[in-house]
Amino acid sequence: MLCLTCTTNPEWIPIATANPDLILLDHAHCEKKAAFFALTMINRYPDRTRLVKELIALAAEEIEHFATVISELEKRNLTLTRDRGCDYAKALHEHVSPNEPRRMLDFLIVGAFIEARSCERFSLLATHALTEDMRALYRSLFESEAGHYRLYTDIAREYFPHEEVKKRLLEFSVIEADIVRGLPNKPTMHG
Ligand SMILES: [Fe+2]
Ligand SMILES: [Fe+2]
Repeated sequence: MLCLTCTTNPEWIPIATANPDLILLDHAHCEKKAAFFALTMINRYPDRTRLVKELIALAAEEIEHFATVISELEKRNLTLTRDRGCDYAKALHEHVSPNEPRRMLDFLIVGAFIEARSCERFSLLATHALTEDMRALYRSLFESEAGHYRLYTDIAREYFPHEEVKKRLLEFSVIEADIVRGLPNKPTMHG
């Protein structure tokens, strides 16, 4: 799927579907962080007009998703808990180059991979979640995450040679697959 070279370990699926509350609590923070990451990119690269415009729209959409998940939590009488961080995203960021302009390209590619992996996990939940309301929620979010993957890779191609983007996507696909194979199958979105 998209740029992903390994699929989620099937053992994650029953763990996730048996714990919908934990998945939603973690998912809310994922949407918040997706918006925050887009705004952080604007802060880092304010003179890149296409990046700024596209990521404003993306941040607005992620905030909408955040609100949707908060409503789901309310329906279940749950309140947001503290963000416990995401080892998956942290591990990907460790591979971002410290030097510009490579750093900018790497951030865009990390953004693309996080969106792609979220998209894959949403599609699993859209199929396997135990209740129709959970399946419907993840069906509704699935397509926009695929669009977000493309948005990050399109921005990368706007500012970097296509061959360089392709090469770095390939390199990160190996890194990302290694990280995913080492995940502990926790009931979190990227667990
Ligand atoms: Fe989202
Ligand atoms: Fe997204």
